[in-house]
Order: sequence, then structure tokens, then C-alpha cells
Amino acid sequence: MTPLLTVDDLTVSLPTASGYVGVVRGASLTVGEGEIVGLAGESGSGKTMTSSAILGILPKGARTSGTVAFEGRNLLTLPERELSQVRGNRIAMVFQDPSAALHPLLTIGTQITEHMRHHLGVSKSVAVERAVELLDQVRIAEPRKALRSYPHQFSGGMRQRAAIAIALACEPRLLIADEPTTALDVTVQAGILQLFDRLRDETGVSVLFITHDLGVLSTIADRTYVFKDGTVVESGDTEDVLLRPTHEYTRALIASRAQSLAQERVAEAAAEGTQR
Ligand SMILES: Nc1ncnc2c1ncn2[C@@H]1O[C@H](COP(=O)(O)OP(=O)(O)OP(=O)(O)O)[C@@H](O)[C@H]1O
Ligand SMILES: [Mg+2]
Repeated sequence: MTPLLTVDDLTVSLPTASGYVGVVRGASLTVGEGEIVGLAGESGSGKTMTSSAILGILPKGARTSGTVAFEGRNLLTLPERELSQVRGNRIAMVFQDPSAALHPLLTIGTQITEHMRHHLGVSKSVAVERAVELLDQVRIAEPRKALRSYPHQFSGGMRQRAAIAIALACEPRLLIADEPTTALDVTVQAGILQLFDRLRDETGVSVLFITHDLGVLSTIADRTYVFKDGTVVESGDTEDVLLRPTHEYTRALIASRAQSLAQERVAEAAAEGTQR
């Protein structure tokens, strides 16, 4: 598979009161054209800092080394002006909280069309037609009507679909999704996962999907990287990583996931019991 993104020996250090601290320590990964790649690992393992380094949105004072090769350029050394062209146009981001991507006082339609007019320089009427197509693509019913809605009139799942539509507006080659389903109910979550899979099939977009939940990756990621302490401890086809983990840490992650699922089931059963 042709690599679209190649991260090689990436390090990120952040300034703290007691000096610089390495939060990504020699991480390497690739994302192929049209591939969905999972990035898993416990809280604080450096997943978000890795994606922030790819996008050039690290906290102030951060130091990096290594390379982030994307479409023939090293994003780590690209001047901010060129990087801002890549961000939003070629690589787009989907966050855990869709509200972070949506302005509460603007209609969904205005937000999608302004984004397109800013990045693509298209006319308002072209942008509106494309916005209708996008909302349809992310399976929001009655897209023309939805364009006139404000974020608070949408459910959490619909808001995340709208945020994904905005991310897709400029036809990026890579979507970085950082815990995009974590804040959603399980059934809504399944719909969003299916959506990523379908968008990849329909548009050929690649997805770097970040989550602490390995179970989520089993349904969508072709390959998975497991992060620990800022570095990759295990990687491979998702099925291999989940069914035949070689690293003790991956086994522990899978076990803790199984345990939390079991606890959820027990809690659900108990709740049903008290309702009866
Ligand atoms: N602005 C910051 N300044 C200093 N340290 C930070 C900053 N942001 C994150 N860190 C530290 O960097 C490390 C990696 O954080 P990161 O956000 O990448 O973890 P993560 O794997 O995304 O975790 P989570 O699953 O909780 O989102 C953590 O130890 C965190 O405390
Ligand atoms: Mg994170």
C-alpha cells in the first residue's frame, strides 16, 4: 500500500516547571492511501501529542525531532504559512467533543459553507450545494433543512456527523479522529464507526483513528499501533494485535477492556433489575 503519511522516529518534548519532558519518544508509524489505522494506548501514552505534532498544533515551546512525511514534505519543518494550507485542506481533524468544532451561534450551513469559501474560494451557491451533499454523505436526514439548524438543535451523534462533514468539506486526504466516539452512546458510536468506514470506501480518504478503547478498533481499523509511554510497543493487522498480542501491555489493555465491558453488563443488569 502506498504510504500517505510516514512518521519516523518522532520525539516531542514539552516545557514544564522542572524542564523539558519527553512525551513522545521515538514513535514511528505509517498510514496508507485509503487505510484506516488505529492508535491505541492508555491515557497519557502520547496519542494526542503525536497527532498534534503531525498537524503542527503542539503546545507553545514544544520541541520535536524525527520526520512527519506527508505528500513529499516534512511537516515538522514546514513554515507555518504552508502548514496552515495542509491543515484543513489536506489533513482534517475530528475531535472527541464535536462542540469544539462547531460555533454555537452559527447555523450548521453557515459553518460548512464559510469553511469551504475560506479554504476553497468557491461562491456561496456552490458552497451551499456542496454542503447539502456533505450532510447527505454523513447521513443527516433532510440536509437542506439541517443547514438552517443551530448545533444545539442537533443530538450529540448528529453534531459529530456535522463536525465530520466540516472536516470533509475540503476533500482532505487524511482525517485524524481523536476519540471521536468516546462521548457518544454505544449505539450512536456504532453508527459513527460505520460512517468512517463508508467514507473511506466512497472517497478513498485515509483515517488515523485514536482511541483508548481497543474494542472500537476491532470494527474499523485495518492496522493498529499500540502506544505506551510515548512509543509504539506493538503494531500489526488489527486482528493479529487483538487476537494474538505479543506484548504484555497490549494483553493488559485487552483484559481491562474485557473487564470494563463485563462491569457495564453487570451494572445494566442491576439497573434492569431495580426497574422491574
Ligand atoms: N500542554 C501540556 N503541557 C505539558 N504536558 C502535557 C501537555 N499536554 C499533555 N501533556 C502530557 O503529555 C503526555 C501525553 O499526553 P497525550 O495527551 O498525548 O496523551 P493521550 O495518549 O492522548 O491520553 P488520553 O487518552 O488521555 O487522551 C501526558 O503525560 C500529558 O500529561
Ligand atoms: Mg488524547
